[in-house]
Amino acid sequence: MECVIRRIRREVKPIYLSSPHYKLFIWRHAQRVAQYAKDFAGKMQGDKFVAEAGGLLHDVGAAKYGKENHHITGAQEAGPILLKCGCPLPLIGPIISAVYSHRGSQRIAFQTIEAKCVAAADAIEHFGNLEELWRVQVEDRGILEVAVYQTLAEKLARDWDKIEPEIKAILDGEYEHAKQKLLEIASKKRKT
Ligand SMILES: [Fe+2]
Ligand SMILES: [Fe+2]
Repeated sequence: MECVIRRIRREVKPIYLSSPHYKLFIWRHAQRVAQYAKDFAGKMQGDKFVAEAGGLLHDVGAAKYGKENHHITGAQEAGPILLKCGCPLPLIGPIISAVYSHRGSQRIAFQTIEAKCVAAADAIEHFGNLEELWRVQVEDRGILEVAVYQTLAEKLARDWDKIEPEIKAILDGEYEHAKQKLLEIASKKRKT
C-alpha cells in the first residue's frame, strides 16, 4: 500500500501548496495529521492505510475551496483522487467517510475507528508544534502577542474535548504536556 500512499501524496501536495486560502503550513499540517492518524490506527487495531490516506486528504477541500463546508468539498475531491491513485475500491468509502467526519465542529457521527483517528489527529496535530501555532496566531491571524497564551490555552482545551474517549486513553499525559509546553513558550516570550 506504500505505493498508493506515495501516489496520493504526489496528487495532494500541489493542491495544498498552491492553495489560495492557506499558506505553506497546511501541507505540513496534512502530513503530520496523516502520521498521527496512522499511529493511532496502529494502536487501536485500525487500518493504518485508511487512516494515513484520510489524513493526507482531510483538508484538500479547505485548500482548494476554503474552510466553509470543507468536509463536504473534501469528501467530493477525495474519491476521484483515490481512484486515480489505484486505491482498492473497498477502501475508498471508509477514506471518504473519514474526510467527511473530520471536523469536530460539525458533529458528524464517526463511521469507523479510522475516522475517529483522523479527527483526533487533526485536533491535536499542533500539540507537538505549539511554537509554530503561536507564530500563526501572531503572523497570520493578527492576534496580539499578549493575548496568544489565552487563545491557545482555550484552543488546546477545545481540541482535547473533541477527542473520543478511547483515543484519549492512548494519549496518556499528552494534554498535560502540551499545556506545560505552552506555559514555557509564554514565559520565554515574556522575557524576550
Ligand atoms: Fe479540516
Ligand atoms: Fe486539518
